Amino acid sequence: MADAPKSATLTIGDNTYDLPIHSPTAGPDVVDIRKLYGQAGVFTYDPGFTSTASCDSTITFIDGGEGVLLHRGYPIDQLAEKSHYLEVCYLLLYGELPSAAQLEEFESLVTNHTMLHEQMVYFYRGFRRDAHPMAIMTGVVGAMSAFYHDSTDIHDAHQREVASIRLIAKMPTIAAWAYKFSIGQPFIYPRNDLDYASNFLRMCFAVPAEDYEVNPILSRAMDRIFTLHADHEQNASTSTVRLASSSGANPFACIAAGIACLWGPAHGGANQACLEMLKEIGSVDRIPEFIARAKDKNDPFRLMGFGHRVYKNFDPRATVMKQSADEVLELLGVENNPVLAVAKELEKQALEDPYFAEKKLFPNVDFYSGVILEAMGFPTSMFTPIFALSRTVGWISQWKEMIGDPQNKIGRPRQLYLGETARDYVDIESR
Ligand code: SDX
Repeated sequence: MADAPKSATLTIGDNTYDLPIHSPTAGPDVVDIRKLYGQAGVFTYDPGFTSTASCDSTITFIDGGEGVLLHRGYPIDQLAEKSHYLEVCYLLLYGELPSAAQLEEFESLVTNHTMLHEQMVYFYRGFRRDAHPMAIMTGVVGAMSAFYHDSTDIHDAHQREVASIRLIAKMPTIAAWAYKFSIGQPFIYPRNDLDYASNFLRMCFAVPAEDYEVNPILSRAMDRIFTLHADHEQNASTSTVRLASSSGANPFACIAAGIACLWGPAHGGANQACLEMLKEIGSVDRIPEFIARAKDKNDPFRLMGFGHRVYKNFDPRATVMKQSADEVLELLGVENNPVLAVAKELEKQALEDPYFAEKKLFPNVDFYSGVILEAMGFPTSMFTPIFALSRTVGWISQWKEMIGDPQNKIGRPRQLYLGETARDYVDIESR
């Protein structure tokens, strides 16, 4: 981070404080307030961190006004069209697109670490069959620190690398087995002769009773969904991983914390909530009713899959996802999918409604992904596990960046205290 010569002046009463301003390679300047409390005895106040940079990073850049998403400088639409998930994983982890030899080595490393410790099969059996797959994933990923002791020392660069590869390699197996367990089918083991996305689809949909051929169109669409969800700057779950990691906790525990945060319907749980909303709407003639509810301040209902903290014009991932939805549904011969018809008409009506334009609400990454995933045969309960699987590389890349930062220290926010000031204990007889 190159320090800009600029600074900000803050006046409190008779005192004036100069706060350094740092300029980025792209995006807004930042006012450095690290010394403010020590100098002025005041905190800044920003619940939800709408105006706060929690770190510096070189991994992903988002321009919310222009609908720009760059991974190490490469635009998401180019990566979605020209690259594939494991190559994007390499880019996020190491900062540059790999050579052919580097990519081959990386893909071989991931492919050969997709199996789980066999003892984990029994760990799954501890869950009820109707457990939500996200509950299972949170538990199983956290439990990895009980199985892979040789990659939990965050101060050992080799162990950090081993943990990174293990997590990226094993998440499809963990997610697929969570699905199989929830439907009472036997686990399907990964195969080393399949690519990442094909392996996942086979582990989800194959059964031992017959051969299973992966549809190459579906594996391409699956890979694109993985790519579109890979990383997204300092979103809630990534910030959770960073904060958990700042205490020195092991990577498996920190990624489990990220999975737990992603599950929320305001975040990664929105894709499941969005498809359930589209099904509840049911037909295009009921759309006005739901748009009215979304605008009604007395109604907590929100249009799931709409709005974003950062994007205030359009989510570039939704644009690519919408193209994929058209392609996949047409190829599956379900282009007349009633849910897709409702999705497209809802998007049209919402974007034409002044309320949504004024609030800058439009489809986000979760709006179309659920339509594709359902058409591919996934139940809604598997939508967020697939998001978690995809985002593991983003969480891990941000975790590695933070652990490797010499400025790294435990995250410890302060507060605006509005509670009781000191008072003496009152005996029960006197209350
Ligand atoms: C993801 O951060 C990331 O990068 C996340 C993510 C990633 O890749 O990691 O992009 C993935 O989480 C995408 C977002 C998925 N969530 C949803 O689709 C759930 C529905 N959306 C909302 O909950 C909401 O839009 C958020 C949480 C996404 C953003 O919330 P903000 O920026 O904090 O905005 P807000 O809640 O303060 O809302 C601003 C106004 C409010 O009205 P007022 O109080 O100002 O009158 O817009 C309204 C809200 O009521 N509003 C909505 C709305 N979202 C916001 N009204 C109706 N429907 C909605 N979806």
